[in-house]
Amino acid sequence: MDLVELVDSSHATGDVKFLRAKDELRAALAPMRREGSSIGLVPTMGYLHDGHLSLLRAARAECDLVVMSLFVNPTQFGPGEDLDRYPRDEERDLRLAAEAGVDIVYAPPVEDVYPEGFATQVEVGGGLTDVLDGDPARRGPGHFRGVTTVVAKLLNTVGPKVAYFGQKDAQQVAVIRRMVRDLDIPVRIEVLATVREADGLAMSSRNAYLDPGERERATALSRALRAAEATAGSEGLAAALATARAELRAAGIEPEYLEARDAENLNPVAESNGRPVLIAVAAQVGGARLIDNVLIQL
Ligand code: PAF
Repeated sequence: MDLVELVDSSHATGDVKFLRAKDELRAALAPMRREGSSIGLVPTMGYLHDGHLSLLRAARAECDLVVMSLFVNPTQFGPGEDLDRYPRDEERDLRLAAEAGVDIVYAPPVEDVYPEGFATQVEVGGGLTDVLDGDPARRGPGHFRGVTTVVAKLLNTVGPKVAYFGQKDAQQVAVIRRMVRDLDIPVRIEVLATVREADGLAMSSRNAYLDPGERERATALSRALRAAEATAGSEGLAAALATARAELRAAGIEPEYLEARDAENLNPVAESNGRPVLIAVAAQVGGARLIDNVLIQL
């Protein structure tokens, strides 16, 4: 079934418009904006899972009009990362978006987002983008520059009242919140809890890379974080990290990082200071680089 047919047949599950052109998107949104309708934006790179669906449902419940962007953003992938093999299934995404009550799916081509001569980047500093995933030895700050540039463009194009993100990408959330604050972008950032499989694995499009054995081993990440959470209150953060590390080691997983940081400014935290603490982990499990985290209030 091609996309046009899919959109035409989507009336059974909801009336979703599929748009590739920025001008068409702006034209579709203008009357809604004039009427004072609230617009919710859910930015995605597609290959939707229940985590995305929870964002879409929240947007549907809170906003008059729901826009989902579907764009595998090349600038947030470093050389040697998985841009080429990143899972894609636009038809399925459209069907799921329609079922979740999305009004508009905006799926621009790369050359529309980054036209010839594109020369502007949005970069958040303040120690938020060169630690954890942004450490130059890992994905590097260029990853977050790619994220903030595309998210700023999407916020400018859609002009939502609320934009929805998942807590699984905790660093991305901290970076986007700072960008929105620093650039006075008039949008509320709504962050929803990580959605997990029954065995605890955080939902991610990249879970598709795991073979059955790796899929089983990958459950160690959430187990490690739960163990850390259970230990932190009584024994402190150092013990919590040691417990988590032991849990990973038992599954044969050497983390790229496993760290306790202030959830808002991402400064390292050694001891409880009354502010929410993020325990974040990243690890390569077979063919997939996975991230997960837990937020704790000590
Ligand atoms: O979280 C993601 O899927 C992406 O980083 C985002 C926010 C859609 C930007 O490309």
